[in-house]
This record gives sequence, C-alpha cells and structure tokens, in this order.
Amino acid sequence: MALWTRVACRFRRWVPAVLIPLATAACIGTSAQYPQSTLHPQSDFTRLLDGVLMHTVWAAFVVFVLVEGALLWIIIRYRGKPDDPEPRQVHGNTVLEIIWTAIPALLLAIISVPTVKVIFQTYDLPKDAVNIEVIGHQWWWEFRYPDYGVRTANELHVPVGKMVLLKMKTADVLHSFWSPEFAGKRDLFPQRTNTLWFTADTTGYFPGQCAEFCGTQHGRMAFEIKSTSPEEFEAYINGLKATGVKPAADTATPPPAPASGELTRVSTLAAAASQVDPAEQAAVDSGARIFRMCSSCHSLDATATGNFIGPNLANIGSRRYLAARTILNTEANLASWIYDPQAIKHGVIMQRLGLTHEQATMVAKYLRTHR
Ligand code: CUA
Repeated sequence: MALWTRVACRFRRWVPAVLIPLATAACIGTSAQYPQSTLHPQSDFTRLLDGVLMHTVWAAFVVFVLVEGALLWIIIRYRGKPDDPEPRQVHGNTVLEIIWTAIPALLLAIISVPTVKVIFQTYDLPKDAVNIEVIGHQWWWEFRYPDYGVRTANELHVPVGKMVLLKMKTADVLHSFWSPEFAGKRDLFPQRTNTLWFTADTTGYFPGQCAEFCGTQHGRMAFEIKSTSPEEFEAYINGLKATGVKPAADTATPPPAPASGELTRVSTLAAAASQVDPAEQAAVDSGARIFRMCSSCHSLDATATGNFIGPNLANIGSRRYLAARTILNTEANLASWIYDPQAIKHGVIMQRLGLTHEQATMVAKYLRTHR
C-alpha cells in the first residue's frame, strides 16, 4: 500500500471523532441565532416538557457511559493476538438473556413513569385562566379573546405570570400549533377542540409555527407570541376594544375641558396634528375609500363577530409582521402584499385586485394608521 493511501486510511478513522464534537460545538454556539428552540423553556408548561427531556437525556447518558465503558474495557482487555487459539464457541445463556431483557424494561419504566405523569398534568385544565380561542386557517392564525370580546390575527399577546388557556380548532384542514418556548405542539382538528395552557415567565416576542403539513404555504404559516406585563396586556386589549367604538355623532356632548395640567400636552398634540402632511392625509383618505372593496373579507373592528374570510386587521399598523410572519410589516411590504399577494405567498385566498402600485400604497398608508 502506498504511503499516502495508508496515511489517508489512518486519518479517515479520526474524521468522525473530530467532526462530531466540532458540529456539536457549532450547533451550541449558534443556538441564539435560532430563536425557535425547544431547549429554552419560558413557561411552566415547557419546563415540564424540558424536565422529561432532561430526565431521558441523563438516563441515556448513564447507559451510554456504562455500555461504551464496558465495550472499551472488553476490547482492550481481551484483544486478540496473532497466535491466540480460536475462542470457545458458546450459544445461548439463560442468565445473560434474562439480564439484558430486564435492564431495558427497567430503563423504559424509568423513562415512562415521569413521561406519563407529565402527559396527564398537561391535560389537567386550569380553572382560572385567560381564555384564548385559536383557529387555524390556510395559512394564518386567528386569535379570539372571548373574555374580552375581541379578536386578532397572527400576533398573540399574553400577560406574563398569568395562565392562558388555548382552545384550538381549524377552519379548514389539519394544522398544528407549535410555540417551542411556551407550549410545545398540539394539533388542530375540524370537529373537536384541543387545548393547551401555559404561563409565560418572560416578556418578549417569541415565534411559533404551524407544525402539520397543511398545503403549499404550510412553511409560511407562522405566528408570534408577545408576552407583556399585565398592564401592557390590559392596554393592548383596551386598544383592540376601542377599534369597535364608532365615532360619536355630531350631536353628542362635547368632551369635557382638559384639566390645567393637561393643557400643555393637548396643545402639543394639536400642533402635531396640524403638521400632518396634506398630501399624506389625502393618500390615507383615498386608501380608506379603496379599502371599502376589502371590507367584506377583512374587518378593522376587533370586536366584529362576523365570519370574515380574511384576518382581522384592527391593529395591523402595530403588528411586526405581515402574511402570517412571512414579511416584515413596512409600508412598502404592505403595499406589495396588497398589490399582488400571490407573488409573495402563492395560493392564498386573496387574489390580485387590479390595483395600481399607487393605489396599493394608499391602502397600505390607510391600514398603517390602524394601530
Ligand atoms: Cu397550517 Cu401547516
């Protein structure tokens, strides 16, 4: 054998030994880049799941060390030499067979007891929780808050430290709600309601994703959970409720005069209002007129109870993403989405409406005033 071939053969044996730890280190090092991780539980529910996972990992680790240790010891201790006689051939050993049947059975028990316990715990529904209805649609998420009479889409706000109970079903095909940090996975069926509960313990934005293949845009059926302080949550809900308040009629009593301390603030606001660019305002007004054609599918009122085909847009201006977390919510992106949704997410119900770029931008400007 040529020297080079021998070196290559020898080196090849070490490739997995070098590459596996390197790949593992790379995965650990880059985990912060991938926020959708089941390894960073942020709620009571996912900590239960994480407990089962770590329990299993430790059991597997002990088995690994014992088996590999025994294997290495036997390989080294009983290594064959060229002049060794052929070893004694044995067949069947009742004691050994009983032992290696009993050990896996014991291991399964060690893993299954806490697993089954947690399964029952996760199906134990809380009595006092914020109720949220989750409805899967091809390919977006509807979130309803029956306790408050409001609904929204694709961005779910929850109060930190307060348990929420999700009641989930689908409007069309099977979907699966997956929030890695808060709640694990649960499938959505047409004829039954599935549940999930969790108490968020950190504030922030946490991405989630449909985890059941549901059609061509399954990969673009994401959502975001925003966990906030209870006060912020209350303000958010009140903001949604306010979208249902119709402007007062002209005959209504004028608002009371502001207290003296508020005068400065009011005059600043009035000054800011008077600085609205007239051209911008005209575009918003035109957008409002054009949007009338959209209003049979989309409502701008979070308290509307009708069965609209499209997502509720009451607070569209304040959401971070559009089209179920497909694109960032910027004016340009919203205009492109309105201009030709099929170009961004082929197969969605919304078709190209025949608007010009300019008209789509006007609608985008109008929608972005809804916050
Ligand atoms: Cu919905 Cu996949």
